[in-house]
Amino acid sequence: MLTIALSKGRILEQTLPLLEKAGLVVSAEELKSRKLILDTNLEDVKVIIIRASDVPVFVQHGAADIGIAGKDVLLEHGANGLFELLDLGIAKCRLMVAAEPSQDLNQSTLKIATKYVNSTKQYFQAKGQQVEVIKLYGAMELAPIVGLAHCIVDLVDTGNTLKANGLIPLDHIQDISSRLVVNSASFNTKHTEIKDWLTRIEANL
Ligand code: ATP
Ligand code: PRP
Repeated sequence: MLTIALSKGRILEQTLPLLEKAGLVVSAEELKSRKLILDTNLEDVKVIIIRASDVPVFVQHGAADIGIAGKDVLLEHGANGLFELLDLGIAKCRLMVAAEPSQDLNQSTLKIATKYVNSTKQYFQAKGQQVEVIKLYGAMELAPIVGLAHCIVDLVDTGNTLKANGLIPLDHIQDISSRLVVNSASFNTKHTEIKDWLTRIEANL
C-alpha cells in the first residue's frame, strides 16, 4: 500500500493531470466527497488531500509515503525525514523581498512580515542584516501599507498582487516550483513501488 499526500488548492489542479498521465486516477466523485482518504483506480494506492504546509509533516512522519508540495513549504519545513526526488516544474513562482518604492531599507533592525519565517531569517542572517520577523498567514502585501513592517517576503508570480498594492519586487531569494518528496524510511522499505512511480511521473513531465 502506498499513500500519496497532495497539497490542496492551486497545486492540486496541476498535480492531478500529472498523476493521471502516470496512470493514477482519483475519480471526480471521490474528489467532491468529504472523505479525507481517497480511493484511486489502483487498489494499493490511496491519496490524501491536505493543506500545502501539512504535506511535509505527513511525509516526515511516514503518514504518507510520497508527497507533493511547493519548494517554499519544503524549505520552511526542513529536510528532516524526507528526500526531495523530483522537480515537477508546476506552480512556478519566486520567493522575493518586496516593499513600497519610498521605503528606506537601511534600518538597524528591518521589520519583515512573512509566512516564511525560517527562510527569511536564514536569508537575512547570511546578509548580516538584523531583522524582526512578523509571522502572518496571508495577505502579506498589506503589512507595509499599514505600517506593520518595512517590507515583506512572499511569493511572486505575475507581480500583479504587488502592483495592485503599490509594492515593488526587490531581492530574489529563491525560485519555487512543486517537488515530489518521499519519506526516507518508505524509500527503503517500498523502494521498488516508489521507484516505479517516480519513473512513470518523470516520463510524463
Ligand atoms: P495553506 O493552505 O497551507 O496556507 P496556501 O493558501 O498558501 O497554503 P496555495 O495558495 O494554494 O496555498 O499555494 C500552494 C502552493 O502553490 C504554494 O506553497 C506555492 O508553492 C505555490 N504558489 C503559491 N502562490 C503561487 C503563485 N502566485 N503562482 C504560482 N505558484 C504559487
Ligand atoms: C500568492 C502569493 C501572492 C500572490 C502572488 O497568494 O502569496 O499574494 O500569490 O501572485 P502574483 O504575483 O501572480 O500576483 P495566493 O493567491 O496563493 O493567496 P494567499 O495569500 O491566500 O496565499
